[in-house]
Amino acid sequence: MLLGVNIDHVATVRNARGGVEPSVIEAARIAEENGAASITTHLREDRRHIKDEDVYTLMRTLSTRLNLEMAMAEDIQKIALEIKPYSICLVPEKRQEITTEGGLDVAGQLERVTEFIKPLLEAGIIVSLFIDPEETQVRASAKTGAQFIEMHTGTYSEAFGTENEEREFMNLKNSAALAQSLGLKVNAGHGLNYTNVKRMHEIPGLVELNIGHSIISRAIFTGLGEAVSEMNSLIK
Ligand code: PXP
Repeated sequence: MLLGVNIDHVATVRNARGGVEPSVIEAARIAEENGAASITTHLREDRRHIKDEDVYTLMRTLSTRLNLEMAMAEDIQKIALEIKPYSICLVPEKRQEITTEGGLDVAGQLERVTEFIKPLLEAGIIVSLFIDPEETQVRASAKTGAQFIEMHTGTYSEAFGTENEEREFMNLKNSAALAQSLGLKVNAGHGLNYTNVKRMHEIPGLVELNIGHSIISRAIFTGLGEAVSEMNSLIK
């Protein structure tokens, strides 16, 4: 199983001051040096974290693969067709949401999704659909021409350690098996952390996990001691 690291939160911190620090390019480099198989960024319609320029620079500097998360928006599709990331992951997007809430309703807009991804597939970009682990969504995804689904693990992550954990976990496991039987490759992500990630090994054939928040959160505490001590020695 491979790890894809989502670096959007690095851009969120950078944008809080409007400057260039911390650099998302440097963050991607460190993630790659430490085993990330791919780098994920979500170019949101409101550009609240990752900016167009970040995506262009990442395409030039990454030594692994860029996985571009995007909504069904024509201007973002245009950028994707221009830079040709290794893969795109189609997500639903609401302006007011804090993060991606729920999976894409592929079943409810099968024709629209199929049409939207067609030029991306024709350009040689691998397409993944971010969906809830539900049979109807999996079956619809298999009809679109996309090669991958990414199962939304948010509900499982929230249920982890509660009486609902097993039910949510089985939804993931069964959806993955169904998707694979229909010829889809399966990734997973959202809300995975250093505890709940362990059960992902119980799902046969998962290709990649895309993880952001827990890694960037942990990085603050694994790096804060050294950062304070370095500043302290400069002051002394
Ligand atoms: N996969 C998708 C499609 C996402 O939208 C996100 C969040 O941007 C992630 C994975 C990563 O989620 P988290 O930050 O909770 O690890």
